[in-house]
Amino acid sequence: MKKITIAIDGFSSCGKSTMAKDLAKEIGYIYIDSGAMYRAVTLYCIEHNLFGPDGEIKTDELKQDIDKIHISFRLDPVTSLPRTCLNGNDVEERIRTLEVSSKVSPIATLGFVREALVRQQQELGKEKGIVMDGRDIGTTVFPDAELKIFVTASPAIRAQRRYDELRAKGQPASYEDILHNVEERDRIDQSREVSPLRKADDAILLDNSHMTITEQKEWLINQFKRAA
Ligand code: C5P
Repeated sequence: MKKITIAIDGFSSCGKSTMAKDLAKEIGYIYIDSGAMYRAVTLYCIEHNLFGPDGEIKTDELKQDIDKIHISFRLDPVTSLPRTCLNGNDVEERIRTLEVSSKVSPIATLGFVREALVRQQQELGKEKGIVMDGRDIGTTVFPDAELKIFVTASPAIRAQRRYDELRAKGQPASYEDILHNVEERDRIDQSREVSPLRKADDAILLDNSHMTITEQKEWLINQFKRAA
């Protein structure tokens, strides 16, 4: 069977990654979480003091450093899922904190950051056989992807899922803070100038507000069978 490219975009915390991971595992494709790459750049900025006292980004300094930021993925030997590495160090847990979540969307508005990451994402997908999730995969990274999905769910449901996930990992979290973060990221992602979050014209829309993970998985596999 010929390999295809699968782009899964959508709003923050709508379960895209879970769907994309499950599908990739089922069909033997590579899975890439493009949001992890924007998160890794954000962690680099936090660790290298590239945010000013009022949270403003030191853009000129980041521009100078952008070619020094190397993001790679290594497969976890137990789960076989990719773990994000920043300049060779495993940062998978550190990029998932609320601090990174609250700073990542402004970083993702910067054109030079997007250019650098889109180039790497296109390189990772050049052999096809890839499932990539994000915000601009179907519109910018792989506009020719054979299967494009755009996922959405209500903000309250997305915040509740994220809250449950953080609690399950033992990370303290407030539902209100998470809801605020989800809504704020949606706002910034949809209104930025470069590659704003939007459904590609040829993407299939999925509102998974009232679907179980199993139902979402079955739905996605059916879409794959139709497209492949
Ligand atoms: O997918 P995740 O929520 O981890 O992504 C973190 C942030 O990275 C998003 O809120 C968005 O601002 C940015 N992002 C993006 N383009 C992508 C993936 C993520 O702008 N392709």
